[in-house]
Amino acid sequence: MKGIVFTEFLEMVESKFGLATVDKIIERAELKTGGAYTAIGTYDFNEMLQLILNLSDEVDIPVDDLIHAFGVHFFNHLKKAHPNIFELYKSPMDFLNSVEGHIHVQVRKIYPGAELPTFEVTKTSPNSMEMIYSSQRALYKLAEALMMKTFEHFHQECTITYEKLNPEGTRVKFYIIHND
Ligand code: HEM
Repeated sequence: MKGIVFTEFLEMVESKFGLATVDKIIERAELKTGGAYTAIGTYDFNEMLQLILNLSDEVDIPVDDLIHAFGVHFFNHLKKAHPNIFELYKSPMDFLNSVEGHIHVQVRKIYPGAELPTFEVTKTSPNSMEMIYSSQRALYKLAEALMMKTFEHFHQECTITYEKLNPEGTRVKFYIIHND
């Protein structure tokens, strides 16, 4: 997992829960890095899992909700860091349709070593779309947040639901509806 995800995650923890919480969740984890990350480095995903689990314990908020909140924070970062990518798209459906074939392809060039999910679009119509998320990291709550923020970015309303295709959540089917 890229360092930018760790640095943004810790930034979110600091802004929502304070620096003392950042220190606590790092201290309680067994981290090879000791909690020092650079944006361009690549680190073990297990460190992120430990940080999220410790945070959930510390602030008594379910892991799923924390991952969703991180997705919201991460989207705002992506918008600031990569405005040129956003400018290429005119609608949320176009944008989401392009994550696999264009956006994450660009991401691989910008962040060598990025570990990305795959999205398979299984159905589209002008106002709806179905896509299957696959990743060993099971960050489908992050995907859900990024999809919702995509609609907000384009000032559009949506309804997003999902169905886990396995208990681990490494394959999850999303049903995305663009509300008029
Ligand atoms: C300009 C738009 C985007 C950029 C620049 C971007 C970039 C990135 C980066 C840098 C990572 C971290 C990779 C790593 O840690 O190794 C990532 C992960 C991820 N991205 Fe994107 N992304 C974008 C849009 C989206 C959208 C719209 C979605 C959802 C449909 C999405 C879904 C994800 C997920 C779920 C992960 C976590 C890794 C995993 O699940 O395996 N991304 N993305």
